[in-house]
Amino acid sequence: MIDVPVALNDRSYRISIGSGLLATAGERLAELTRAKRIPVVTDAHVADRLLPKLTAGLDGFEVVPIVVAPGEPSKSFGELERLVDALLGLEVKRSDVVLALGGGVIGDLTGFAASIVKRGMNFIQVPTSLLAMVDSSVGGKTGINTPRGKNLVGAFHQPLAVWADLDCLATLPEREMRAGYAEVVKYGLIGDPAFYIWCEANAARLLAGDREALAHAVAQSCRAKAAIVAADERETGDIRALLNLGHTFGHALEAETGFSSRLLHGEAVAIGMAQALRFSAARGLCAGVEAERLTAHLASIGMMAWAQQAGIAADAAPRLVAHMLQDKKMTDAGLPFILARSIGDAFVAKDVPLEAVTTFLDADLKAEYGGRSVAA
Ligand code: GLY
Repeated sequence: MIDVPVALNDRSYRISIGSGLLATAGERLAELTRAKRIPVVTDAHVADRLLPKLTAGLDGFEVVPIVVAPGEPSKSFGELERLVDALLGLEVKRSDVVLALGGGVIGDLTGFAASIVKRGMNFIQVPTSLLAMVDSSVGGKTGINTPRGKNLVGAFHQPLAVWADLDCLATLPEREMRAGYAEVVKYGLIGDPAFYIWCEANAARLLAGDREALAHAVAQSCRAKAAIVAADERETGDIRALLNLGHTFGHALEAETGFSSRLLHGEAVAIGMAQALRFSAARGLCAGVEAERLTAHLASIGMMAWAQQAGIAADAAPRLVAHMLQDKKMTDAGLPFILARSIGDAFVAKDVPLEAVTTFLDADLKAEYGGRSVAA
């Protein structure tokens, strides 16, 4: 088992990564709480697959499952109210612990509920998807969506622990594994060229479920994220913003596809990271071959790397930029973009004129549709 510390003074915690963590959850939980009754929030799919294993692992505790509908619509005020009411109905105390067993939706919803019940109770992230293990379960961002946009209501609320049981990934659909991998390779692109090279060499093995490759990728991603979160917990500086590489372009793509299953978040991030590198090259900040290297890698593992693959139209540039204007990262000073000097050297650019983004995206989409190989 690998332990990755997240150093946040009195909010510090450990991310445990390994096999068999659900089956041995009781031992770990007993070190963290005296509570005996443990609410476990999960969704119907994950409940079928993994709740019996976790419940058996929590021998000696009374497990109270709270099951929400699978999917993004559960990150809503309605589900939040239901969940908060269920927790209050159990007469939880602040020092009690609620477990979030699932992917990003369950983690975000449960974490937010935990942040407001009794002005803040403990929770533990038990991520079951690759994306949740390497990104959303770490760092304390919690929240829900509103009809006005994604993650617009939420709180920073750090978990008491994160337990990433790699066995959960054995039954994860291939497309979701690949989407989660986008957030893994992101850490290489942001600040770790050696890890990027490791990703290129090991992505196929990892996606095939190789346990050693998965353990290394999850641990390395969590170490990178833990360091960033420790340096800039609330994204008040520029450090945590680096985690948004590919996300501004990607968010616009998700909005353009109506946040539908046509384009998963990780797929949008993959295309968005490739666009961010090509945009960096177009602005003379990095060599074009760096962007080509990334698209070639993404294509080699069957990952979307081009907007056309997500059904984005050739004339979509103005609409994509209009979606960017709704981005919650927008400030009075404009929209910060995460650009790169090279693979492994990303930075925050705050002076990017949106007209330049429109011009770039228009030329980029037209080049795709004009026959540039989408297979890279
Ligand atoms: N997923 C970006 C962050 O946690 O800051």
